[in-house]
Amino acid sequence: MAVEKLGIVGSGIMGSGVAEVAARAGMTVVLRSRKQETADALVAGLARSLAKQVERGKLDEAEAAAVAGRVSATADLEALSDCDLVLESIVEDLETKKQLFGELDRLVKDGALLATNTSTLPVVELAIVTDRPERVCGIHFFNPAPAMALVEVVRTLVSSDETIAEAKAFAEACGKSPVVVEDRAGFIVNGLLFPYLNNAVRMLENRTASRDDIDAAMKGGCNFPMGPLALLDLVGLDTSLAILDALYTEFRDPNYAAVPLLRRMVAAGHLGRKSGRGFYNYTKG
Ligand SMILES: NC(=O)c1ccc[n+]([C@@H]2O[C@H](COP(=O)([O-])OP(=O)(O)OC[C@H]3O[C@@H](n4cnc5c(N)ncnc54)[C@H](O)[C@@H]3O)[C@@H](O)[C@H]2O)c1
Repeated sequence: MAVEKLGIVGSGIMGSGVAEVAARAGMTVVLRSRKQETADALVAGLARSLAKQVERGKLDEAEAAAVAGRVSATADLEALSDCDLVLESIVEDLETKKQLFGELDRLVKDGALLATNTSTLPVVELAIVTDRPERVCGIHFFNPAPAMALVEVVRTLVSSDETIAEAKAFAEACGKSPVVVEDRAGFIVNGLLFPYLNNAVRMLENRTASRDDIDAAMKGGCNFPMGPLALLDLVGLDTSLAILDALYTEFRDPNYAAVPLLRRMVAAGHLGRKSGRGFYNYTKG
């Protein structure tokens, strides 16, 4: 079954990015935020992002209007009931996500796929709170969703083969290249990436080098497009901490034990780009 109507729950960095990707791929998208003001602001933000792409000649005006017309935003979870696929992209917290999956299972039409964009949490725990565990899987987009080619499709012990095939087909319809991975914390990319990011914070904390030199070294020495501290700011330090905590809980590997500086920065509200301050300062003026 091809996905014609996509529901997204969570209007943060990832939810809004995936909404743009799917609308550009021709799908109807309903984006659910807890507050109608946030939902409306997101639709306005999408219109601005599309207008910029028109200015840069990457999109023509008619196409931009068609994409914007395919996205609606709501504060009402019931508005997702007739979606073919609902992708959850809310805060990285297992209990919050479990509660949401229970609600989605009750209100979304029978047979629809329920997926999570979680970076690290056990997908099977979301599957088993529903009465359709075989229709639940992970569909993990990367940040920023419009630019990143990869999607990890996460198969739980109870996902059906049809579910995985449909999730892959959805990712391909979005213009992405899916890989399939078993349900282990961090999947492929974050399992390999987060020890590196965590150790970069450790180097900063123990004064091995300055912020700028750590980032410059990994850009210049490994040809990475951005350094690890800038990447942490892009991902969000709260989300990064939640990812490390989930990885550590699962594997007890010291490389996943979040460095104290990261935890303190989150406690201080320095969350990276989204809060205006992280390892770098993003406030204007
Ligand atoms: N940031 C990344 O680079 C990245 C990449 C891939 C996947 N993810 C995953 O995507 C998901 C969302 O991450 P994000 O970066 O968009 O986070 P974000 O902080 O930008 O957005 C989180 C959203 O969750 C909502 N939310 C918070 N508490 C809630 C609750 N109790 N009930 C319902 N909604 C709630 C917030 O209002 C916000 O809209 C997480 O599971 C994260 O691990 C993040």
